[in-house]
Amino acid sequence: MLDTLNALESDALAQLAAASDADAIEKWRLAFLGGSGRLKAAMEGLKAVPKDQKPAVGKRANEVKNALESAFKQRQDSLGAGGAPATGPLVDPTEPGLRPPLGRRHIISRVRNELCEVFARLGFEVAEGPELEDDEHNFTKLNIPAEHPAREPIDNFYIDEPGDKHRPRMLRSQTSTVQVRVMEDAIRRGWGPPLKIVAPGRVYRPDTVDATHSFMFHQIEGLYIDERVTLVDLKTTLFQFARAYFGHDAEIRLRPSFFPFTEPSAEFDMKIRLRPDQPARWIELGGCGMVDPAVFQAVGLDPERWTGFAFGFGIERIAMGKYGIPDIRMLFDNDVRFLEQI
Ligand code: DAH
Repeated sequence: MLDTLNALESDALAQLAAASDADAIEKWRLAFLGGSGRLKAAMEGLKAVPKDQKPAVGKRANEVKNALESAFKQRQDSLGAGGAPATGPLVDPTEPGLRPPLGRRHIISRVRNELCEVFARLGFEVAEGPELEDDEHNFTKLNIPAEHPAREPIDNFYIDEPGDKHRPRMLRSQTSTVQVRVMEDAIRRGWGPPLKIVAPGRVYRPDTVDATHSFMFHQIEGLYIDERVTLVDLKTTLFQFARAYFGHDAEIRLRPSFFPFTEPSAEFDMKIRLRPDQPARWIELGGCGMVDPAVFQAVGLDPERWTGFAFGFGIERIAMGKYGIPDIRMLFDNDVRFLEQI
């Protein structure tokens, strides 16, 4: 009888291991544990066992019963809902997440949003202005007089003939236009100054396209107006920005320069090691300065009371510096093999 029980156990376990789906283990259950299964039949045989052997055989019979029942349960658990063999949890938490199939934001959009976020942390709000401008906002109110060479038709995308109209329209050549629009709006609606804004957006210049020039590119403009704003505020803001966006070891420097709408004016450069295998180097980021009193006067603010700083730089240049992109055209070709890498 003990031999029968041992044989039954090993036979049952071997067949259970071979059962690979829900149907197969159910068949196995009926064959071994069911009402007319082999275990039941073996138990019936207990009656015929001599009295003195009964305790040992009965104990063994119970062991076999328990072993088969728990093996059945285990096997059932280890088969997934669909019956596919599985050996662990059905979800593998070590698998990398799936890429969303619809793609993602373009590098320029991402960098623009990141820049806005950094400046938001420094207290700047985001403002916008139109890409189709007039020469009053692009030039006149920024203290760029009628005969200034920057107004040359060959250097601008005029929509109207510059000589014909009182205020010829053009595609804006700089985001500094938004400085004027924000000041005018704030005065009209009575919400400022003080004003603290950044304005990202497209600008247009009829440049010949090459590795560093494009007829359309993006700038981000900054403007802070309050009483007693100083050059120290400007430099601190640019320094904090450079560190926040490029890393703790970023340095900046201002080089004296000239822009009609700021006085004094400067170019600002940042020194940064962009790649571990390269030395830190100076990269020119943009222009900046203290808002010229003539600009305040043009929009109707009292230059004796208000002070301010402004800055503007190219977003492509920042993206190219940050990601080591050698040619601006790569940003506009829209070759997904390139875009996917960044
Ligand atoms: N608008 C200038 C350009 O496109 C850049 C610039 C210089 C912006 C000085 C500023 C500034 O706000 O203060 O070259």
